[in-house]
Amino acid sequence: MSVRIAPSILSADFAHLADEVERVAQGGADWIHIDVMDGRFVPNLTYGAKVIETVRRITDLPLDVHLMVVEPERYFDDFAAAGASSLTLHVEVAPHLNRQINRIKELGCLAGAAVNPATSLETVREAAADLDLLLVMTVNPGFGGQSFIQASVDKVRRARMLLDASSSGAVLEVDGGISRDTVRDVWRAGADTFVAGHAVFAAADPAAEIAALRERCREQV
Ligand code: DX5
Ligand code: ZN
Repeated sequence: MSVRIAPSILSADFAHLADEVERVAQGGADWIHIDVMDGRFVPNLTYGAKVIETVRRITDLPLDVHLMVVEPERYFDDFAAAGASSLTLHVEVAPHLNRQINRIKELGCLAGAAVNPATSLETVREAAADLDLLLVMTVNPGFGGQSFIQASVDKVRRARMLLDASSSGAVLEVDGGISRDTVRDVWRAGADTFVAGHAVFAAADPAAEIAALRERCREQV
């Protein structure tokens, strides 16, 4: 399985957004993770289509858009048009997950479902075969720079089993508190895609940090 690193621009310096995105793109990032927050689903506000469209012009890398918003379907069309490659909604605000996944796919994006730390994986079981991406939150969403929740490791292991049992080829992504200290455990538990905000953008050398995250997964223990 390949290791995919997705730096989250939430921790980037927005006064120099183009430079920051280019730096991680040249530094080996596989995807760029864009955290959309609405101040309702989470207690923080960030950005929307304007920033997605701006990052789209800076890089050809896939844009991994994480929707921490209520009524996420209101944004699918605009965000797809702005250049999103994947749209991941939270199951906590998705009463019609199957319909929403289908709509995202119709728009030509990968369709993802995210679960908060306290949300059971059973909420995605029936839709697992249709998912392109399953995002297991390893912090409570809303802010960058939080501490990794250790119980997530076992949850990722169960998420891997769930996807395999559903014959789902979905990406298994983790998000929150991913660093050199935490990445290997979730990799060994079966995650393949690692969002990292603070770890990458607060580093003196983001490229070295991306390489180090990748290397930590490859190390034998
Ligand atoms: C948290 C966001 C994350 C955040 C991760 O609500 O979904 O994507 O940027 O940041 P770090 O890696 O700093 O925990
Ligand atoms: Zn995120």
